Amino acid sequence: MERPTPKPVEVPVPPDRFLVSKTDTKGIITYANPVFCEIAGYSEEELIGKPHNIVRHPDMPRTIFKLLWDTIQKGEELFAYVKNMAKDGSYYWVFAHVTPTFDSSGKIIGYTSDRRPVLNRDVLTNIIEPLYRELKEAESRGGLEAGVRLLDEKLKQVSKSYEEFVFTITFKED
Ligand SMILES: Cc1cc2nc3c(=O)[nH]c(=O)nc-3n(C[C@H](O)[C@H](O)[C@H](O)COP(=O)(O)O)c2cc1C
Repeated sequence: MERPTPKPVEVPVPPDRFLVSKTDTKGIITYANPVFCEIAGYSEEELIGKPHNIVRHPDMPRTIFKLLWDTIQKGEELFAYVKNMAKDGSYYWVFAHVTPTFDSSGKIIGYTSDRRPVLNRDVLTNIIEPLYRELKEAESRGGLEAGVRLLDEKLKQVSKSYEEFVFTITFKED
């Protein structure tokens, strides 16, 4: 399938709805709820069986997806701000929570993600967008490794793990 051309139009994500999807262990979509289909602009048939990068936006740093996969493949959960691209090239921001699903023997059999809208827009404008721009720049100069190194340095500067960083900016009191 051809990738849409990104366009600077934001799809509003309703504040009281969750976008949910499930994948197999390779990131192939096995379930998409109606809200996810509606916001991303795809039918359920168009999403099921496709890699989840179908909604990847080119503004997203690869570093964040490496962190995502490294974390969930270890059996842990991850929270992240993600800019996604809808079928018509427009974009939507979400705060995503991705978790592994286990069988009764403890083996990972897939992943689930639920996403909610980003209500605090200042977090995007002042923290996440500048950070992701810097990560993208580092990646274009020195590849994925440079992005990972930059994120590590930024977290060291504030003495936080990635999760602590995300939680601090998300739930800080104004
Ligand atoms: C449960 C689950 C949900 C995901 N949700 C998204 C998503 O909403 N947007 C996205 O770009 N990637 C998402 N990913 C990550 C993609 O699988 C992929 O790693 C990412 O889009 C980077 O694309 P690439 O592999 O082509 O570099 C998700 C992965 C999993 C396991």
